[in-house]
Amino acid sequence: ALAIGGGVSLVYVNAAVSTVGSTQFSNELAIPPLAPSRLRPDGTREFELEMRSGRTEFRPGQATETWGFNGAYLGPTLRARRGEQVAVTVRNQLPEASTVHWHGMHLPAAMDGGPHQMVRAGATWTPRWTVDQPAATLWYHPHPHGATEEHVRRGLAGMFLLDDEVSESLPLPRNYGVDDLPVIVQDVKFRGAELDSSHAIFRDVGFLGDQTMVNGTLTPYRTVGDELVRLRLLNASTARTYTFGFADQRQFSFIATDGGLLEHPIALDRLQLSPGERAEIVVRVRAGERTVLRSNKLDAGLGFWTQRFAGGDDTFDVLELRAADTLRSAPELPAALALPSTPDGSDAVQERRLKINLAGINGKPMAMDRIDLTVTRGTTETWIVHNNDGMPHNFHIHDVQFRVLTRNDGPPPAELTGPKDTVFLPPDATVKLVLRFDGPADPKVPYMYHCHLLWHEDQGMMGQFVVVEPGGAAGTPPRDHGH
Ligand code: C2O
Ligand code: CU
Repeated sequence: ALAIGGGVSLVYVNAAVSTVGSTQFSNELAIPPLAPSRLRPDGTREFELEMRSGRTEFRPGQATETWGFNGAYLGPTLRARRGEQVAVTVRNQLPEASTVHWHGMHLPAAMDGGPHQMVRAGATWTPRWTVDQPAATLWYHPHPHGATEEHVRRGLAGMFLLDDEVSESLPLPRNYGVDDLPVIVQDVKFRGAELDSSHAIFRDVGFLGDQTMVNGTLTPYRTVGDELVRLRLLNASTARTYTFGFADQRQFSFIATDGGLLEHPIALDRLQLSPGERAEIVVRVRAGERTVLRSNKLDAGLGFWTQRFAGGDDTFDVLELRAADTLRSAPELPAALALPSTPDGSDAVQERRLKINLAGINGKPMAMDRIDLTVTRGTTETWIVHNNDGMPHNFHIHDVQFRVLTRNDGPPPAELTGPKDTVFLPPDATVKLVLRFDGPADPKVPYMYHCHLLWHEDQGMMGQFVVVEPGGAAGTPPRDHGH
């Protein structure tokens, strides 16, 4: 049974949050270190991740209990190249079981790190797979069924960057931590020295914080020495949706989305990201100036409920860029980036309809031992996902990158072009997605699809699909979900 739903039960405690104008950007932005890796002669790139608890000083003199990978909060940035085999040793030193899911990665279901690949306290899990997808900004985070919001909110998240021939040959900013910055945006709230986890503001949406931080840094600024700066934006918040832009309304170039580079840069001045989504943007700065990345209120057109439930009525000054007095010049952005990598739907063999709301997906809350959909390896499908609820959700599918064909029967907005794995669904919205399952098949181990508002996921807005060989049937997921 679900603990949520049951009509409108929100509680307005606070007025909208706004830090705009008053923000003193007092902390230099932390850049998550690149994870060290060993490249073995057989081409395997090996990483080590340890999930730990620790203490983090977000504010001077106040130690806060947090969780992190290889450190006390967040995790290092993993980086691998298309064609490499990746092997990760994941050690769980937490007091409870968890998982590590590679969000956006195309990989065998048994390596996916979903709720069927639990790693017990004290145990080790060693997934390996071959990177076979375009360059992209992916991320990793826990996925234990029923506790994902809590594990991510405590600090377990990190970026996973993929490179390929295309990304390496284009004249784009690519100097990690210099002109190519990871920007992991989370909202937080403190109660005394500790992180507050209450759902007090809008009960049905999950946790919403009252301030943002980037890469674990509160009120961050970053000094940049290049005239073009690439920001890899990741909304790693558990429930909050942002609409990013600059306080001075400057335009930026949107170059990549969840699953990698667009066909060409798109000039925008605002871009919406719901939880789990990524966008890479390139912004031009002038010598000596400062500019603030700001999350504005969501577009009024999305309606009152979206504003309230997605935390979209709030405005945050997210990150200040401080340009040095002299800047290295950068080449113009290329007019063409990458060829399309998602199918256009012309060869779709199956159309499915999924209705999502707080009762679950197509009326059913998630069940670990029920396979909801069986798809055939090597085929293309169309999924029509409809939010028939009064509150915003989003929709994330494991293993694949999809193309958004339409939103509400019209062409998708610019920010939904390119390869996506997560898409925002305001109340009553419908998206038509086209996706191709390239395998490998495993009839017994399911992939997930779910709302990435993590408390909704925890409450059961999630379903499971397996990929089978042509003519094959789904098996039964193993009863023992642990490692
Ligand atoms: Cu980012 Cu199923 O998750
Ligand atoms: Cu939801």
